[in-house]
Amino acid sequence: MSFKDGFLWGGATAANQCEGGYLEGGRGLSTVDVVPAGKDRFPVALGEKKMFECDSEHYYPSHEAIDMYHNFKEDIRLFAEMGFKCYRLSIAWSRIFPKGDEATPNEEGLKFYDELFDECIKYGIEPLVTICHFDVPMHLVETIGAWKNREMINHFTRYCEAIFNRYKNKVKYWLTFNEINMLLHLPFMGAGILFEEGENKEEIKYQAAHHELVASAMATKIGHEINPEFKIGCMLAGGNNYANTCNPNDVWKSMEMDRENYFFIDVQSRGEYPPYAKKMMERQGINIKMEEVDEKLLKDNTVDFISFSYYASRLTSADPEVNKLTEGNVFATLKNPHLKASEWGWQIDPLGLRITLNALFDRYQKPLFIVENGLGAIDRVEEDGSINDDYRIGYLREHIKAMKDSVEQDGVDLMGYTPWGCIDLVSASTGEMKKRYGFIYVDKDNNGKGTLARSKKKSFNWYKKVIKTNGEDLK
Ligand code: BG6
Repeated sequence: MSFKDGFLWGGATAANQCEGGYLEGGRGLSTVDVVPAGKDRFPVALGEKKMFECDSEHYYPSHEAIDMYHNFKEDIRLFAEMGFKCYRLSIAWSRIFPKGDEATPNEEGLKFYDELFDECIKYGIEPLVTICHFDVPMHLVETIGAWKNREMINHFTRYCEAIFNRYKNKVKYWLTFNEINMLLHLPFMGAGILFEEGENKEEIKYQAAHHELVASAMATKIGHEINPEFKIGCMLAGGNNYANTCNPNDVWKSMEMDRENYFFIDVQSRGEYPPYAKKMMERQGINIKMEEVDEKLLKDNTVDFISFSYYASRLTSADPEVNKLTEGNVFATLKNPHLKASEWGWQIDPLGLRITLNALFDRYQKPLFIVENGLGAIDRVEEDGSINDDYRIGYLREHIKAMKDSVEQDGVDLMGYTPWGCIDLVSASTGEMKKRYGFIYVDKDNNGKGTLARSKKKSFNWYKKVIKTNGEDLK
């Protein structure tokens, strides 16, 4: 058998993209609630455009999303029917601390997740909880500038303490920040950062990164004190960079691009700033304020495992002329002539997953967890209601084979696999509904119209069989 007993097969979602109920149960306004669909989405997500108030001209997909807030029982029942062993979800910070700076948590918010976890446990599904997945209470953005400000560490750790204490007997697996390196690419979406004119953007981003890294270490410390059985991990937007040619300049450039992402995990897993990052900051005149306690805290509280998302590999050239960006991609990448791409230009590369798994395992030698993977595609509902998503099955099959090779041939220690958007949800980058990843279809369109009814796609039964056979039967 290639996958170990107890391998955590499942699926992944995030509160900001599926819950909805944005003002229910005492929940406060969050960054995601002011990120509209349409042409303003990207400038807002980048932290370039200030739109803190919701208006009637824009559509805000998070407000209702797929309304999992009211449908979670049905949704978890469907996950259980597929045989999920694990369900990755995120807690919406502003449900627990609506403004972010309160002394005590919101009981109604805590109760909501109690019920949700109880539902998982009823079916033997292990929850894997992302503590912060692209959301910050808006009050903290407006009053202290979110992660630009060191005070965030206190607010975040108070939030962590509240949920660790409350769910210590229900949740064992935790991730501190979703795709922590996304802070560099989509600063408002990733970390609630809005740039003011004249600010040194690189310095702001790395200062915010430092605050998140310290907060993550602090959370890891508190979590382990509350329950030594907790497994607390970090989370990287993964996908290695290839060099466009064998020109050493291209190879060097691709290494630098990888390091930009590894930087975060190097700190979270090895417990210190890597020399290349210190030198890069020196060179670029980036001065990070650190406190004396930080160094020891980072060193003493490294993560138990490393999780990552993987959708595509990336291709890099040192030549600015060649370096035209692939359309629709948050990460800069060239078009790889050896790969096909999704309808959104994400380049499909199963062997790239094996390469990424090996690169991470070589570097950190800690258990790995693939907590996102999948194909965002347009699905067609046939007249009889069926959805024949063979393209999705094909994508997942090839990626699972690559995982298998990594485990069987390379000896990678892999804990589990939770494909992204196991139920259709709002796309983070575009705000669309038609970019679907799910095994479960949700009747809703890009403009928010639809019955929200759930139905099974062809991939539903396929994945059920994969789980049942522990990945042996991929037909
Ligand atoms: C990751 C995020 O970036 O990729 C998810 O953690 C996101 O939140 C996923 O939804 C897929 O990206 P997109 O833009 O297709 O939704």
